[in-house]
Amino acid sequence: MGETYRFNRHHFLTSLLIITAMLKSVHTITTNTEFVKSSCTFTTYPRLCFTSLSTQASLIQTSPKLMAHAALNITLASAKATSAMMVRLSSSRLKPREAAAMRDCVEELADTLDELRKSIGEMCRLSSSNYEVYMSDMQTWVSAALTDENTCTEGFDRDEMNGKTKVLVRGKILVVAHLTSNALALINHFASIHG
Ligand SMILES: *[C@@H]1O[C@H](CO)[C@@H](O)[C@H](O)[C@H]1NC(C)=O
Repeated sequence: MGETYRFNRHHFLTSLLIITAMLKSVHTITTNTEFVKSSCTFTTYPRLCFTSLSTQASLIQTSPKLMAHAALNITLASAKATSAMMVRLSSSRLKPREAAAMRDCVEELADTLDELRKSIGEMCRLSSSNYEVYMSDMQTWVSAALTDENTCTEGFDRDEMNGKTKVLVRGKILVVAHLTSNALALINHFASIHG
């Protein structure tokens, strides 16, 4: 009788610990996801922000710096994929004007990649002693990346462009531009709360 009682009590306490740990982890996941959602309200494209960054919630936790860093990472990955797609497209048969717009775009995207990589590098090395300079560098580079992307889209906006290529390229670049705009907003938000 006493044995059974101790045995059950042991199980009961173990279960209680497991349940507590589970509730804690559910609470943490909810807190992290809520943080991503509320940070996204500072961006121009909050829905895209949330869909692209909520998967990184456990990495971001509740840090505005990690949020901005993750946004830069996602933007870089998207710009890389788009650039690779355009390089592939530019070797397909295109009208001379399209080929020219595509070449310009690939070049502008190469600049974008460079600017995003430099920004990520400084985000990694950011400290209180270099804060002002690095922050201002990042704001400059990410703004420049946005300008490059817009220049690329404008090249495809002209009427003489083929419908399918235009729609495809324009759509991909627009996503990169929106992600970049969001990353810039998150960097600016991080800068404003850091003071
Ligand atoms: C950003 O990407 C780097 C390199 O892949 C990775 O080490 C880092 O954890 C990422 N940071 C965030 C916040 O996503």
